[in-house]
Amino acid sequence: MNLDRTFTMRPIGVVRSPYTDRTQVPRGPGAKHDAEGVLEIAAEFEPGLADIEGFSHLYVLWVFDRADPPTLTSTPPTDDRSHGVFATRSPQRPNAIGLTVVRLLGRDGRRLRVRGVDMFDGTPILDVKPYLSSIAEAELKRGWLAEAERRRGQGS
Ligand SMILES: C[S@@+](CC[C@H](N)C(=O)[O-])C[C@H]1O[C@@H](n2cnc3c(N)ncnc32)[C@H](O)[C@@H]1O
Repeated sequence: MNLDRTFTMRPIGVVRSPYTDRTQVPRGPGAKHDAEGVLEIAAEFEPGLADIEGFSHLYVLWVFDRADPPTLTSTPPTDDRSHGVFATRSPQRPNAIGLTVVRLLGRDGRRLRVRGVDMFDGTPILDVKPYLSSIAEAELKRGWLAEAERRRGQGS
């Protein structure tokens, strides 16, 4: 296993979001992400948006460019117990990559209007892909999150 490699990426655009700091982003049990924002793609990449309009949802891969240093365990706002970073969505991860599924509301040229942003304004975007899931809901397991919800008397 050769782990001694680095990869250089450059953003394809930035997120325009109503949020400028962590106190503004809904978090914790039952948090809803319905804020609207814009994925502003750089002009040079606009041809890459051809035919994206037909998809209802998109994956957005982005950089936690304002995160604190990584930690391998953390206690998420949805639980009072610590979990391994790879079992959470913590911003403090070895590779500071964020992943958000957003609803595509419309496209104005190289600007994608979306709902469901949880990123700060100006967050660099690494990639955008259509959201396609073939996993039946009945097959999905929610791990410690389901347990935390049961302890709080939420969820099913
Ligand atoms: C729990 S993370 C989840 C992000 C994404 N949905 C994921 O799963 O990778 C969401 C938090 O990241 C933080 N955040 C958003 N944009 C950020 C940025 N550009 N740099 C560092 N932290 C950011 C906010 O505090 C927000 O509440």
